[in-house]
Amino acid sequence: MNILKDTFGRRFPYIRLSISDVCNFKCGYCLPDGYKINKSDNRKFIEKEEIGRLAKALSELGVSKIRLTGGEPTIRKDFFDIVGIIKKNSGIKKTVITTNGYKLDQIAHKIKNSGLDGINISIDSLNSKIFKKITGHDKLGEILKGIEKLLKFNFKNIKINAVLLKGINDSEEDFKAWAKFIKNNKIDFRYIELMQTGDNLDYFKRYHISADKFINYLNNNNWVIQTFGKDSGPSKNYINPEFKGKLGVIAPYSKDFCKSCNRLRITAKGDLRLCLFGNTGINIRHLMQRDDQLNELKELILSQLNYKKESHYLEIGETGLTKNLSTTGG
Ligand code: 5AD
Ligand code: SF4
Repeated sequence: MNILKDTFGRRFPYIRLSISDVCNFKCGYCLPDGYKINKSDNRKFIEKEEIGRLAKALSELGVSKIRLTGGEPTIRKDFFDIVGIIKKNSGIKKTVITTNGYKLDQIAHKIKNSGLDGINISIDSLNSKIFKKITGHDKLGEILKGIEKLLKFNFKNIKINAVLLKGINDSEEDFKAWAKFIKNNKIDFRYIELMQTGDNLDYFKRYHISADKFINYLNNNNWVIQTFGKDSGPSKNYINPEFKGKLGVIAPYSKDFCKSCNRLRITAKGDLRLCLFGNTGINIRHLMQRDDQLNELKELILSQLNYKKESHYLEIGETGLTKNLSTTGG
């Protein structure tokens, strides 16, 4: 079988699929002025039938996991239909989502019943004032209630991501608050290093800090690094027998980060992106229109992988096409 592989020998069992650019939050590093329609691009977001065909093609190319992202994926009215289509017909083994959690409290039961295999929730701070300052929304309480519900329903594979921001959520107190949060809850928490995008240079200069500060905290507090599985994400996880959850970091600026890259991205308008920060990426949507295009779609995706580069070149300030992460889902 032909499976997705690039010229550096990396394999791609994991796809991040954005299903909407729209987001209702205003995170300072992403959409500080809120979501605005891109007037120069009037294409609609991919339809659920297109997503179904895409998922099938990907599964036949060896993809086992699809992450639905945004923008905010749960904003789409047909969000659970999309999950259903991928889960039912495609052969994809794990369907997971990344969400800002804004209506988690209301939809926790639906998430459980949808058969989703995991959820990543973005929470930059456990302090509601700081949370509001970063995202522009006073929603922390509701999000935490939603998480409580998921735990009560025994939903497996809950993760929380926070973007690490200098002087905002990077103190030892913050680290301790997260450790306490996961002590008795089987939830994995990870800090993501702030990445520079086309739009956020000033913010980046002001708030970027290396994850080493958190790693030092982990090393000093009995946390031990763990190795990863084949379709796992980019995080380095640490375990501690006294805690039910794990703590981790996603450090895109660390040496060799791209060596273990196992994922590709598809935007909400059907562009294949070989890297979060690549300039390469073509539209593949015209081959998601009919069932009999399956082989052509597979071939196009396969052939594109020859163009995947070795690294994101972020360390030399390259941000590629990426103005912010609301189109490619982080
Ligand atoms: N750098 C790091 N993480 C980011 N995210 C969005 N923009 C950035 C950035 N510039 C994160 C979100 C969310 C995930 C999808 O990506 O906070 O956790
Ligand atoms: Fe929305 Fe995510 Fe961007 Fe925040 S980081 S504005 S939640 S898309």
